[in-house]
Amino acid sequence: MGIEITINGEKKVWDTKPSETLLDALRNHGYKSVKRGCDEGHCGACTVLVDGKAIKSCVMLAGQAHKRNIVTIEGIGTIDEPHPLQKAFVHTGGVQCGYCVPGMILSAKALLDENPVPTEEEIKTALDGNLCRCTGYVKQVEAVGLASKMMRGEN
Ligand code: FES
Ligand code: FES
Repeated sequence: MGIEITINGEKKVWDTKPSETLLDALRNHGYKSVKRGCDEGHCGACTVLVDGKAIKSCVMLAGQAHKRNIVTIEGIGTIDEPHPLQKAFVHTGGVQCGYCVPGMILSAKALLDENPVPTEEEIKTALDGNLCRCTGYVKQVEAVGLASKMMRGEN
């Protein structure tokens, strides 16, 4: 079945199987930043933005993405012009092996787009579905707070 999908601002038409997940479709089309962890909706490594909401792409069918707007980490910053969240994660040491980071940053972006001045508790709640085996989370929570300040021109 064919789906029309917008990814990082580019319109695409993809052929998908009815059982294909959005995670598989994205990775099969080269969006390798979208990571596979548990494949069961628990770890958050596969998180992408779907119409601005953080969604675990391993538990969404590609067909459900028809006519939706998808953002992966490639869509929010570049090496030359990183997004404030990307700068803040590096600055605080919130990136170690990096496997969780695309999903973690996209969950944080969904939060900051809706709530530009979150409390620490709100940041923790937003990152709750993203597991990290390396950092202990403190630096990542700190990074989201720092990015919030940077986006308001405070830092
Ligand atoms: S791979 Fe999707 S939540 Fe773990
Ligand atoms: S930085 Fe390694 S899993 Fe999070």
